Amino acid sequence: MKEIVSIFPIFSATEMQSALDPAGTQASEISSLWWLYFWILIAIFTLVLICICIAVLRAGWKPRESRPNEPPPQPSAATDRRIFAIVSTCVVATVLILFALLFIDIFASRSVYALSSEPHPLSLKIIGHQWWWEVQYQDPDQPSNTMTTANEIHVPVGKVVRLELTSTDVIHSFWVPNISGKKDLIPGYPTKTWLKADKAGSFRGQCAEFCGHQHAHMRLEFVAESHSDFDKWLAQARQNARPPSTPSQQRGQHVFLSNQCIMCHNIEGTPARATTGPDLTHFASRTMMAAGSFPNTRGYLAGWIANPQNIKPAVKMPPNALSSDDLNALVDYLESLK
Ligand code: CUA
Repeated sequence: MKEIVSIFPIFSATEMQSALDPAGTQASEISSLWWLYFWILIAIFTLVLICICIAVLRAGWKPRESRPNEPPPQPSAATDRRIFAIVSTCVVATVLILFALLFIDIFASRSVYALSSEPHPLSLKIIGHQWWWEVQYQDPDQPSNTMTTANEIHVPVGKVVRLELTSTDVIHSFWVPNISGKKDLIPGYPTKTWLKADKAGSFRGQCAEFCGHQHAHMRLEFVAESHSDFDKWLAQARQNARPPSTPSQQRGQHVFLSNQCIMCHNIEGTPARATTGPDLTHFASRTMMAAGSFPNTRGYLAGWIANPQNIKPAVKMPPNALSSDDLNALVDYLESLK
């Protein structure tokens, strides 16, 4: 993995996603299976190449045109029997290897789903939208305590997390390659999966089912952290948004609430209660924006608000014709929502 990062210095390690660099129980199973297949197939491929080379060398190969009158070789009865024995052995070996791989595959998928029988203290609901992820942290004891965020998932290391997946429009697929396998989000048909992160770190997830124009930019940030960091994050995420503390932030909040922003977004603790677009209550605490498309910086944010179509064409958010002072104040306000 590190070698790939050094070949492509434009990527940082956290921007990479790899099913072969497992940080979760299921990803480890999948990665072991992948390597087993890889080495068995490499061995067979090498064996076939060696056999082809031996055959060519033994036949003393020369172009057919250089020996036009030579009759084609006729194998003897003994050679025929030998060829039959070799081919039959290879066919039997192929069938046995394929069955062995099939059973190993079945056992791997059983252990991938074995997490479902373990206690899962954390339940998340993930809703796919074109082209972003809505993430709800549920509280079984107090349903009103449900916290909604977008495009960023935090989980505690070593705990089984249950995911309920659904979609509001088309089929998407949840995939964080370093943590677990893929699972589809199907409109009207909730699916379930379980995952467990074994290592702390920040990993990139990606929608794995073609879902339209911006499918490639439907990413998410998956953060596995210690229990204390996770508890701190969740407690903070459940708070209402910070009230604006400077005149510019106050103006920004007024711009937000008096323009079309309020028709799509929710900011807890303010009159903005819409759920069409991502929840922005703690927008500034997220490292990426527009479903992992860009770093959450002032420049991208201002450009995004002014005209998202320029940087993520076909996205559902419309352009906003704001004066530069209003835009600046709005960015100030959004950047204060830690
Ligand atoms: Cu959502 Cu592809």
